[in-house]
Amino acid sequence: MKIGVVLCTCGGTLNIDFNDVKSYVEKFVDRVEIVDFLCKNSNLDGFKGFDGIVFACCSDRSSLTFNEDRMHETARKLGIKFWENANIREQCAWIHDSVEATNKAKDLIAMAVEKLKLSGEYLQFKPLKKVLVIGGGVAGISCAKSLSDLGVDVTLVEEKPYLGGMACQIPLLWQSEGFASVCTSECVIPVLNREILRSNVSIFTSSRVLDVEKVDGNFRVKIEKAPQYIDPDKCVSCGKCSEVCPIEVPNPFDFGMTKRKAIDKDFRLAMPDTYNIVEGCNRCGECVKVCPTNAINLDAKAEIVEDEFGAIVIATGLDANKDVLKKFRYDHPKVITLMEFERIMANNFFGDIPMSVVFVLCQKDEVGYCSRLCCPITVKLASRLAMTRPETEITVIYKSLRTYGRAFEAFRRLAESRGVEFVRADIEGIDVGEDCLIVKTSEGEFEADYVVLAEPLIPSSVMLMKKLGLKLDDFGFPLEFQPRVINPSESYVDRIFVVGCAKGFRDVQESIESGRAVAVKVFEALKGKEMKYYSITDIEKCSKCGLCYAVCPHNAIEFDEVFKIDPAFCKGCGLCYATCPSRAIKLVNLEDEQILRMADVAFKNHEGARVLAFLCYWCSYAAGDLMGYYGLKLPPYRSVRVRCSASINPDAIARILLEDKADHIIIAGCPPKNCHHIWGNYIEDRRIKLLKKFLKEHGLEDRVRFEYIGVAMWNKLAKIIKSVYSEVEESKSK
Ligand code: FES
Repeated sequence: MKIGVVLCTCGGTLNIDFNDVKSYVEKFVDRVEIVDFLCKNSNLDGFKGFDGIVFACCSDRSSLTFNEDRMHETARKLGIKFWENANIREQCAWIHDSVEATNKAKDLIAMAVEKLKLSGEYLQFKPLKKVLVIGGGVAGISCAKSLSDLGVDVTLVEEKPYLGGMACQIPLLWQSEGFASVCTSECVIPVLNREILRSNVSIFTSSRVLDVEKVDGNFRVKIEKAPQYIDPDKCVSCGKCSEVCPIEVPNPFDFGMTKRKAIDKDFRLAMPDTYNIVEGCNRCGECVKVCPTNAINLDAKAEIVEDEFGAIVIATGLDANKDVLKKFRYDHPKVITLMEFERIMANNFFGDIPMSVVFVLCQKDEVGYCSRLCCPITVKLASRLAMTRPETEITVIYKSLRTYGRAFEAFRRLAESRGVEFVRADIEGIDVGEDCLIVKTSEGEFEADYVVLAEPLIPSSVMLMKKLGLKLDDFGFPLEFQPRVINPSESYVDRIFVVGCAKGFRDVQESIESGRAVAVKVFEALKGKEMKYYSITDIEKCSKCGLCYAVCPHNAIEFDEVFKIDPAFCKGCGLCYATCPSRAIKLVNLEDEQILRMADVAFKNHEGARVLAFLCYWCSYAAGDLMGYYGLKLPPYRSVRVRCSASINPDAIARILLEDKADHIIIAGCPPKNCHHIWGNYIEDRRIKLLKKFLKEHGLEDRVRFEYIGVAMWNKLAKIIKSVYSEVEESKSK
C-alpha cells in the first residue's frame, strides 16, 4: 500500500516536535507533509494516487472542525480509498508534556498506519427508493405525503376502511399546545385526506401487513388486501346500497354504541369516499340491484400483494388498556372511557342528557407510566361539557392532575370557571345505585349518570415491532437508536422508523409534526451509505450455533441454512464478531490482527508503564477527548478507539497480555443503559470477568479491567488512567 501521513500543527499551537515526528514516520510511509490548518482545506494534492492516508491531527470523534465526515470527504476528494486518524491533539498534545506528546504522536501514527495496512473494502449500499408506511392515521398520512412530495415511491397500508385514524373519532381537537382553542376534526381531517388521496401514494385501506423479510438490504413485504367488494373508481357514494341493505351491525366507529348497515360508511366524511362491506353481510344482493354505477361485486376475493421497500415507517398509533378498568365496573354501559365519551358527546348523548358526569383520572400507576394525554383530554371534555350543558354537574376525581403547557392549564381554568369541580381523592369503588352510579372516594361519594374513566394508553403493534426486530422498552414502546436525543424516530433496525403515537404519546398536531419531520430522515436514509465497519460471515465456517443472532442488537442476521449477516443492516458494532466461537465472522476494519499489530507498535517510543486503553466510540473515547478539552494532565497512556466496547475480542486482550505487548489494559464502554448497541457494554463487562478467570492461571488477572465511562465522566477516566499508571510504575520499580 502506498501510504501518506499528514501532520497538522493546529496552527502551531501543539507542543509536539513535528520535524522529529516527521523524520520518524518517514521511515515507514511513502510521504509525510506538515500542514498548519488541515481543517482550513490545506492543499494535499501531493497525496493523490495514494492507497491510504493517516490524518494526524485532532480527534475524528470530537473535533469541532475536522471530524470523521470531513476526513472521509477529504480522502474521497483525493481519490484515496482508506484513511485513519491519529489523534495527536485531544488525547496527546493537550494532556502531556512536550517530550511525552512527541513520543506518543510517533506511536499513535505508527498504530494508525498498522491498522491502515489491513484495511478492508468499504461497502456501498443504496436501498430501493420505495417506502412502506404502515398505518393511515394522521402521522402516517403526513409522513407518506411528505415523502411523496420528495419524489419517493410510497405505499400506505391501513387496516381500517378509512384514513385519518383515531383523530376522526374526536370531534374537537385542541389547536396547539400554546393556544387554548379547539378545532373540528370534520374540518382538518378531510383536508389531510384530500391531500394524500390526490398524491402519488399507493393507498391500501382495509389491508394489513402479513409478513416482512429482509432481502439484499431491502424489505420484502407481503400485504393482504381485504376483498374489494366495491370498486372505488365507480362508487359515487350515493348511499342507495346502504338504504336497501337489510342487515345492521354495531359500528366500530362509535365503539358499537350505534349501528351501521353491512354495506355502509363508518361515518359520513370517511375517506376514501366510498362504501364498504363488513362482516355480517348475508350476500342478499339487494345493494347490487340498486347501485347506479355497477360498483358492487359480492364475489370479490382478498388479494395478496408482494413488494420490496428500502424503508418502513411504522405509524400504527395507540391502543387503550381496558383490562385495568374492569375493577371500576367498566362492564356497566354507563361506565365508559374518554374516547367512548367523545363519541357519546358527538351523538348528543343519544337524546338522554346526563345530569351528572364524574371523570375519574388514573388512580394508581397501573401501567407504570403517565399516558400524558388523559388529563388534557379530560379537562377539554369537562370544559366543553360545562359550556354546552351548564345544567350538568361535572366532577373530576384525580390523584395527580397533569395539565402540562399553557393551553391545558387554560382549559382547566375555563372548566373551573364554568363550575367543574376538581376533587383530589382516592377511588374506593364504583357502585350501581337505583337510578345512578355511585363513585366512592376518600373524599366522599359522588352520584353520576356517567362515569368516565381515563384509559391507560399502550402501543398498538408490539407483535409487528417485535417481528421487525425492533428493541422495545419495558412498556412495549420502541427504543430509539442512540443517541436518542438526536435520533428520536430511528429504531435499532436500519431504515425502520417509528412515528406518531406508535412511539409515545402525542396529540394530533404533534403526530402530524412527527410524520412530516420523519419524512426527511427517511429520505436521507434512502440516499444509501458507505460503511467502513461492518461484519460479514464466512459461511463455510459457520457452525449454526446462533450466538451471533442472539447478540445482534440490530436484527442484521438472518438464518438461511447458516447464519448470515446482511451488511446493509449492520451497524458495525462487532458484537457478533467477538461472540462467534467458530471465528466465522469478520469485523471489517477492526480485526484482531489489526488490534494486535497496533499493540505491537503502541509503546515503541515509551519507557515506563504501558497502559493501553480501548475506548468505545460513542462515550468513553469522547470522554478521553474531553480530558484534553478541559486541560487535564495525564501520564502517557495509549488509546485505541473501538466501535463499541464489545467489538473487542477477549482473545485479542489475552494475546496482548500473554505476549507482553502491554502492562495493563483498560476497556471502557458506555454507562449502563447507554450503549449504542443496547447490551454491548454489559456483554463486554461479562466477557472480561470470564477472561480474568482464564488470566488467573497465568497470574495476569489484575492486568485488565472494564469500566463504564460516559462522555461526561472524563474526570473518572482520568483518575482511572492515573491510578493504573502509577500502580504499574510502582510494581515495576519493585
Ligand atoms: Fe459504548 Fe457499546 S457503544 S459500549
